[in-house]
Amino acid sequence: MLRIDDASFERLIEYIKTNFGIDLSGKKKLVESRLSIMLAERGFKDYKEYLARCFSGDKNGEIVMLVNSLTTNHTFFMREPEHFRFLSDTVLPYLVEKNSAKRCMRIWSAGCSSGAEAYTAAMCISEYLRGERHKWDTRILATDISVKILSEAQAGIYPRKSIQNLPDGWESRYFLPIGQDKIKICREIRDNVIFRVFNLMDEIPFTKAPFDLIFCRNVMIYFDKSTRTALINRFCKALAPGGYLFVGHSEGMPRGITGLKYIAPAIYRKPLNS
Ligand SMILES: C[S@@+](CC[C@H](N)C(=O)[O-])C[C@H]1O[C@@H](n2cnc3c(N)ncnc32)[C@H](O)[C@@H]1O
Repeated sequence: MLRIDDASFERLIEYIKTNFGIDLSGKKKLVESRLSIMLAERGFKDYKEYLARCFSGDKNGEIVMLVNSLTTNHTFFMREPEHFRFLSDTVLPYLVEKNSAKRCMRIWSAGCSSGAEAYTAAMCISEYLRGERHKWDTRILATDISVKILSEAQAGIYPRKSIQNLPDGWESRYFLPIGQDKIKICREIRDNVIFRVFNLMDEIPFTKAPFDLIFCRNVMIYFDKSTRTALINRFCKALAPGGYLFVGHSEGMPRGITGLKYIAPAIYRKPLNS
């Protein structure tokens, strides 16, 4: 494995933290394991030379590859099932009543990785609305910083074993077999999710209408406290009154967030009268 010198490591983690919020301090081994093969394959003799390329004038393509390599994209269908139960039992009945006139709901999967979270939500909506679904605009926005993982998400092809947590019958309803071991999300569900590249460090540009529900799960775990606080405050602004925020069950809410009310573990809500 190609070892990274201290100065290059400090330079790299400072850049990643400032620009993408991801805190890699103390994670030298992880950085080396994620980058060293790529560096060797591409003929860089050391990290100094590689970082010089990353930070040179024409750095965009290089930074995209760097971010693709350093992000942790682990995800699966029906991850943290309590959230999807809450979506079906509480959020969807509320939205169907509240939005019955315009027949539209705004949901965002922020830090969506390969799309399992957004697609699971789309399947829950389909189960809930059944024959009424075509009368609603239920498109889900799904964003991530990694261009590579978004292209996998868009393709919607997964190992068959990744859907083992889904209820009986969903495989035949929402997936098509691809050979023995793979499955592909059906067109109806794929069309219901719109994937975009977006860095959660940036101001939220999707302001056409406020969101009814934001998923941001297992993303902020990599951010430091001030980055998390600033992001949650931006989510607060982007939520409709009565809108929900789901965070990962291992992620606490930083102190000093006043715009959201605790509802259940990892579930927060913007008050209706705000
Ligand atoms: C572990 S995955 C979580 C996927 C899904 N939300 C879940 O809970 O299964 C974390 C994702 O956050 C993305 N991410 C990390 N930093 C980000 C940033 N600054 N902006 C947007 N996405 C980011 C990573 O690329 C990765 O795909």
